[in-house]
Parts: sequence; C-alpha cells; structure tokens
Amino acid sequence: MSVQLGDIAPDFEADTTDGHIKFHEWLGDKWGILFSHPRDFTPVCTTELGYVARLKPEFDKRNVKAIGLSIDPLDSHKKWAADIGETQGTALNFPIIADPDRKIAGLYGMIHPKHDEVYTVRTVFVIDPQKKIRLTLTYPQTTGRNFDEILRVIDSLQLTDGYTVATPVNWKPGEDVIIVNSVTDEAAKTKFPKGWKALKPYLRLTPDPRK
Ligand code: BEZ
Repeated sequence: MSVQLGDIAPDFEADTTDGHIKFHEWLGDKWGILFSHPRDFTPVCTTELGYVARLKPEFDKRNVKAIGLSIDPLDSHKKWAADIGETQGTALNFPIIADPDRKIAGLYGMIHPKHDEVYTVRTVFVIDPQKKIRLTLTYPQTTGRNFDEILRVIDSLQLTDGYTVATPVNWKPGEDVIIVNSVTDEAAKTKFPKGWKALKPYLRLTPDPRK
C-alpha cells in the first residue's frame, strides 16, 4: 500500500525503544516525522539517527516529534542505541519502532521489493497535527537523508498553513515568499502590507510575513 499526500496517516500500535505506543495517541497535537531505516547496526542509519537526535531542540521549537522504524526487533534496537550515542555524540532521544512482522512497513509502503525484498528503504513521512500526510520522501538504502531539508519543509508547511503564500526554490525562513495566485492584487494590499515585487503577474514576491 502506498501513502499519499493528504491521506490520514495510518494508525498502528507498536513496541518502541520508549515502550508500547498507539501512534495517533503518541503524536497527540504535534507534528510528526516517521522515518524508516533498512536495518540496525548499519553505518548510514547510525549517522542519520545520531543527527536526528542532535536536531531535537529544532524539532521542539517547531512542535515536532520524530520516530524511526526498522524491521529489526526491540532488543536489537536497544543494543544499537548505545552505539549511536557512543559514535555520534548524542544519545538517542526519540523512539525507534520495532516492526519485525513488517506490519507497519506494509501499511506505509516502506518496502520496495524490486529494490530490496526484505528490508525497508529510507522513507520519510511528515504528518501534521490533524494526522494528515504532508510530505513523503523515498531514498535508496545507500544514501543518507538530509534532515536539514526535512526541517526546511516543515518550516515552509507551517508558514504556508498560516498565510496565503508558497515558498520558492531553496527558500529558507526569513527570505521572500510568493503570494499565491488565488490572491488578487486588491486583496494582497491588505494581506501583505509590506508590499510585493511583481516579476510577472503570477510571480509576486513579498517579505516573509513572520519577519
Ligand atoms: C546503511 O545504513 O549503512 C546501509 C543499509 C543498507 C544498505 C546499505 C547501507
């Protein structure tokens, strides 16, 4: 099964390194990042999990909870967690789901059999407080993900949910944003009092409204 943008994130119960959870209940009213790893005790995954642990203050600022998943069992996750702390300089500070029967991997389409019949690929799902899927991303097993980019997407989503704007290529918080085309110039005068620069009638740039 594949999970698409706009779907409600499938709910599930699972054992994790932080105990048994019911996923939707665990998310509560926060944003979520659910991401899968091919397997435990592998080098790329070790660096990714360490980096996500280091990003915790950034996730907290944005009201985001992170949770990893691999199909290895819980006792393996727990042993691996010690290696992550030792080698990456930050102890694991978010749960990793054990999915040995691949139930959750199946629900979210995390196994791509032509790539690998057994282990999950590197998927990421960003879930909003209404439990809606807002980003899906699939990386091959041999390429570590860029979690700074995932943070950047969350910044964009949180901004564009609050204002009638979109964010341009490589946008970072604080940079100019795009007024969406459904907003007329007349309406834009009240919505964007700082004004805008129209490169084309359909391409109007205005300062980040949160600045
Ligand atoms: C890794 O995490 O290092 C890895 C996992 C599966 C295949 C290749 C690399």
